[in-house]
Amino acid sequence: MPWRTDGIRSVPQAFPYQGSKRALIGEILSLFPDGGVSQLIEPFAGSAAISVGARKYGLATDVAISDVNQPLIALWNRIIEDPGFVIEEYTKHWNAQLDDPRAYFLQARDDFNQSNDPVLLLYLLCRVVKAAVRYSKNGQFNQSADHRRLGARPEAIRKRISEASRLMQGASASHQSYESPLVDAPRDALVYMDPPYQGTTDVPDHRYLTGLRREPFVDTLQQAVDNNVSFIVSYDVVTDDNKYGTKLPDELGLLHRHVTVGASSQATLSGRKEITVESLYLSPALVARLGGAAGVEARVNVVPTSDDTLF
Ligand SMILES: C[S@@+](CC[C@H](N)C(=O)[O-])C[C@H]1O[C@@H](n2cnc3c(N)ncnc32)[C@H](O)[C@@H]1O
Repeated sequence: MPWRTDGIRSVPQAFPYQGSKRALIGEILSLFPDGGVSQLIEPFAGSAAISVGARKYGLATDVAISDVNQPLIALWNRIIEDPGFVIEEYTKHWNAQLDDPRAYFLQARDDFNQSNDPVLLLYLLCRVVKAAVRYSKNGQFNQSADHRRLGARPEAIRKRISEASRLMQGASASHQSYESPLVDAPRDALVYMDPPYQGTTDVPDHRYLTGLRREPFVDTLQQAVDNNVSFIVSYDVVTDDNKYGTKLPDELGLLHRHVTVGASSQATLSGRKEITVESLYLSPALVARLGGAAGVEARVNVVPTSDDTLF
């Protein structure tokens, strides 16, 4: 059975972020070796839902998060080291916007594109459509504001940032691409990866600053397998009326399972009862630590489907 969390709201989300794995925390934590790990590495960190969740439930002693988005990593470092500053600066922006929220947002976005100020990124993430980062070809943040909302109130941000900061004390946050954190991971560590979605793999992806090229990704996974790294990859969300993405190659020898995550928030909003299925790949080293495929299946709700019908 999946790890029992106290519900997704029990794990603080430092900032909203499209693609956050918050809804999946229970399933992913179920795949941690019993008693947790001495080090959790999250190389496509974003809002680092899994790291924060693992800390919350005492399943990771050391935590190392990284991401190619430099201001996002700068924001994480501020959250860890000086949460009071982040809360204070956010509060100033939130209050200052009230006279003219549209104009304030546009000015803040321009300022962010000049300065890369991490707290401005927090303000933008709270205000943009779907909490989604989008960049122009020349790397300018260009996502629009959601004009129906003013962004989380300062009291809410205070609570979330304080809690996330407390849980992430001692964690390291670094600005780097995923290759070295993955391939050089110690054997007793666990690497959790949530790369950007496929579909735009070999062209610049306007989501998340950079896309992920599939071939080098597969080669790097192979190196990690050869190094006996324990890792989990979330690779594509598959819903029952929507299939996208391409399987990772069988040659990697990864254990591929589809795990049910419950109704997606999108489906719930539109009144449809739809089960979201998450496609997870586990490295051989991790599968061995969990007692083989049967050990894995005992820990999560696996969808009985063949790899030919869903991928
Ligand atoms: C789907 S999001 C991760 C969301 C995360 N699981 C969460 O809970 O918020 C993917 C992240 O990968 C980052 N990214 C994209 N290419 C990368 C690369 N080559 N190396 C490291 N991070 C990368 C993006 O900046 C983005 O934050």
